[in-house]
Amino acid sequence: MEKEITEYKLAKQLFMLGKEIILTDEAQQMKSFTQHGTTSVFEHAISVTKYALLFAIALENSIFHVKIDKRSLVRGALLHDYFLYDWHKPSEKRYGLHGYTHPAIACKNAIADFNINEIEQDIIKHHMFPLTLIWPRHIEGWLVCLADKWCATCETFKIDISSYVLYRVNLRYQLSRGMVTIGNKLEEDKLTEDGAIE
Ligand SMILES: [Fe+2]
Ligand SMILES: [Fe+2]
Repeated sequence: MEKEITEYKLAKQLFMLGKEIILTDEAQQMKSFTQHGTTSVFEHAISVTKYALLFAIALENSIFHVKIDKRSLVRGALLHDYFLYDWHKPSEKRYGLHGYTHPAIACKNAIADFNINEIEQDIIKHHMFPLTLIWPRHIEGWLVCLADKWCATCETFKIDISSYVLYRVNLRYQLSRGMVTIGNKLEEDKLTEDGAIE
């Protein structure tokens, strides 16, 4: 069992478990929308995923040895705000009160664009608890719910939670599209299964 948690290991694990979502143009759309302050929805989603994963690893390594479905946790966290509109614009008010309605919209979009399972749907639908009254049914949902509140607070009050994880995720995307090179050689063919740079 992993005892030492570092930003590098966290970034590697997050990318490995979430790359089927992160690398898609659909998920990259979240970069176009602002979430809190100057943070994009994509940045927020990565931060929430990072903290949810951190909580999960800490719980698994604790004396309780709680078993967490980390793949579902990461995928659900990445898509928890996949609502794809600018909730700050008055013209988007057709969606109703954003705080209450966006979990269902995000879940509908995620089902349409990605093959998400029941735990992932539970994470997305119930991440706004207690605002939306119904609590998550799975431990993974509770962890994302907590991580979301922590990240929203930090982003709103400009507490710096910028991290190496976000940098790594964006670098992976750029490498996979041949948009950047490391050294003199394209790194695209050097991407390993776990997302590490060799
Ligand atoms: Fe949300
Ligand atoms: Fe969120």
